[in-house]
Amino acid sequence: MYIKNLYLDNFRNYDNIEIEFNKKVNILTGNNAQGKTNILESIFYCSLGKSHRTSKDKDLIKWDKDEAFIRLNMSRKPLDKKIEIKIFKGGKKGININSIKLKKISELFGIFNVVMFSPEDLKIVKESPGYRRKFLDMEISKLDHRYYYKLVQYNKILEQRNIILRNKKFLNNDIINVYDQQLSEFGSSLIKSRIDYLEQLNNRGKLIHSDITKGNEEIEFSYLTHVKGKENISEELLSLFRDSQKRDMEKGNTSIGPHRDDFSIKINGIDARSFGSQGQQRTSVLTIKFASIQIIKEISGETPVLLLDDVLSELDESRQEYILNSLEGIQTVITCTGMGDIKKYLKNDFNVFRIDNGRIVEY
Ligand SMILES: Nc1ncnc2c1ncn2[C@@H]1O[C@H](COP(=O)(O)OP(=O)(O)O)[C@@H](O)[C@H]1O
Ligand SMILES: [Mg+2]
Repeated sequence: MYIKNLYLDNFRNYDNIEIEFNKKVNILTGNNAQGKTNILESIFYCSLGKSHRTSKDKDLIKWDKDEAFIRLNMSRKPLDKKIEIKIFKGGKKGININSIKLKKISELFGIFNVVMFSPEDLKIVKESPGYRRKFLDMEISKLDHRYYYKLVQYNKILEQRNIILRNKKFLNNDIINVYDQQLSEFGSSLIKSRIDYLEQLNNRGKLIHSDITKGNEEIEFSYLTHVKGKENISEELLSLFRDSQKRDMEKGNTSIGPHRDDFSIKINGIDARSFGSQGQQRTSVLTIKFASIQIIKEISGETPVLLLDDVLSELDESRQEYILNSLEGIQTVITCTGMGDIKKYLKNDFNVFRIDNGRIVEY
């Protein structure tokens, strides 16, 4: 799939702009704080109905305006799609696809897929488990609506269980037992999907990582959970919830479950988070991103759009070269402050847009 054009009205620092994209590579260049990432953010928004960098939708509306508007025309099989999004100051938003209003946000998932790669993504490797869970939840939601539904349900029940645990006067074993039953059903399904996803990430990631490191490094992802077996996850999870009731009551929260799980990233058998060099950690993110492109392509049949936000300058020359040589068949939007060596590696067609203070000054 690829973006044909993008129209923004009162989005971030833009009054209104329209950009016609190249099917291959598009480079947004300009000084800092001119609006390059804002464009990627609006594209990302069309994919998941939220920003990649803020949960506050009203920050996306141009200061002193009441609403922002994004329209993205894309080409995909079997039918081209027009995604239109209005974001209102009061917190509401409306999304239309081919002029039909969506009832829920999850109906948007899978219509237009992007893979965003920004310096922030290093957190997937370096930081706390929450970043890795967020990565998994986002990637699997793009591929499976039911996963997102189950995640939302799981989190709702989890919140109720925690409220009961904290308000000891309502504490009642029957209620907790009902919650545990429901949590184990939704939770086991989340765990299964995550294990499956990591298997896919392994299959593709191993080849990609070996390619980037010229065969010197082997990468391995594994899901980390309290559940030991691969069969009967639901039963095992239920007994884990039951066994932890007493401790959870003392602490006032739910100590185990997919909301606490994690995955490890090992390079040549060694944990990349604790012992990897900065370079190895960056390469791992690169592997994860290119593997997730392949997974989306294989499962959905359509290649996602790749958004590279200021990452090239953070990578050494051989990694930059790897990226720029891997873009065949992937529509890519790159932001950078200077063109550097980019042109040297791009054999294909590309467009350059110069962004200056919320305007495109050069095509
Ligand atoms: N809601 C908004 N209304 C107007 N301007 C905004 C809004 N949000 C951010 N900006 C401006 O957008 C610019 C940052 O844009 P960004 O795309 O992050 O820059 P960069 O080109 O460095 O990627 C800043 O100048 C900031 O003041
Ligand atoms: Mg930026």
